[in-house]
Amino acid sequence: MPVINRIAEFQAEMSAWRRDIHAHPELGFEEQRTADLVAQTLASFGIEVQRGLAQTGVVGTLKGAAGARAIGLRADMDALPMQELNGFEHRSRNDGRMHACGHDGHTAMLLGAAKYLAETRNFAGTVHFIFQPAEEGLGGGRAMVEEGLFERFPVADVYGLHNWPGMPVGQFAIRPGPMMAAADLFEIAIVGHGAHGAMPHLGVDPVVVAAEIVGALQSIVSRTADALEAAVVSVTKIHGGDAFNVIPERVEMAGTVRTFKAELQSQIEHAMRRIAEGVAAAHGCTAEVRYERQFPATVNAPAETELAAAAAAKVVGADKVARDPAPCMGSEDFSFMLHAKPGSYIWMGNGAGEGGCHLHNPRYDFNDEALPLGASYWATLVESLLPKGAS
Ligand code: NI
Repeated sequence: MPVINRIAEFQAEMSAWRRDIHAHPELGFEEQRTADLVAQTLASFGIEVQRGLAQTGVVGTLKGAAGARAIGLRADMDALPMQELNGFEHRSRNDGRMHACGHDGHTAMLLGAAKYLAETRNFAGTVHFIFQPAEEGLGGGRAMVEEGLFERFPVADVYGLHNWPGMPVGQFAIRPGPMMAAADLFEIAIVGHGAHGAMPHLGVDPVVVAAEIVGALQSIVSRTADALEAAVVSVTKIHGGDAFNVIPERVEMAGTVRTFKAELQSQIEHAMRRIAEGVAAAHGCTAEVRYERQFPATVNAPAETELAAAAAAKVVGADKVARDPAPCMGSEDFSFMLHAKPGSYIWMGNGAGEGGCHLHNPRYDFNDEALPLGASYWATLVESLLPKGAS
């Protein structure tokens, strides 16, 4: 039996919520309409709703039979600032906004699980359904934790889920330890001395220095990081100068660093400062480095990962739950919740997709066939973690 029968019965309803959210995408901390839909839908199931945490966050609380234990299930609600290229009926109505990461599906599946659990209440204890804003680079997960998510809604552990294009529908993947990388942002400003393009000897050219720094930064991973540890240093932006015959005063660059271990993260930051400042000094310029640790790595707790994998296996069969997927260098702000509480984060297959679309592609769409699987996973997880008669 692949999914809970009662959940399969309201697939059309979950699909309608999902498509409604998809058609009305909202950016981080602006999810007013989405939060209204979530809050009203939860309330219609008789679930107690709290709003306003991290601006647009919504938390639904459902109690089963008597039991002291509480767990948190989290879905993200925000869309991306990009133009959708799909032409189907539920395409984005909001120009320059798109649900290209499937958060519409995540929200619909958690609502589906909430509906089922509110009807059946076949568990003992409390479930908090956490609908967070602003996962896409704005730190909505951090904001919820800092604004007291787990003080207001205490939980023993917390769980997250993300759809995964390229993995068949009906499969899950999860591993203990790192699943997603830490994401850091860096900005380097190289300050030289402007001059006429024909008379470089009268200035200090920051463009030449910037070029050397870009090249030298690539030696960090290849020459200073342990070859058995994963790390990425990417310079993704560089700007300097306005005219072909003017040497500018200043060149600015920016990029991202991805790691799984805090020790390596510190080593890379240190090497980056040494290289940028050292190369600049060698040429008589200065380099100002700003290094910001944005998201920690998403690290699954071993015991909770076993429980999550077992719940997924109950839904799709143990052979459809990959237990040792390669971690991803992308990041995820559920990491802030996993820093505050033990828990686990699972990937769920979204299928190959039309043309093999991956996340953040302008033709991506969440696969509605996966809705009952994800909702069944959530419901099964709750019934397994909070068994009736056991507390
Ligand atoms: Ni996402």
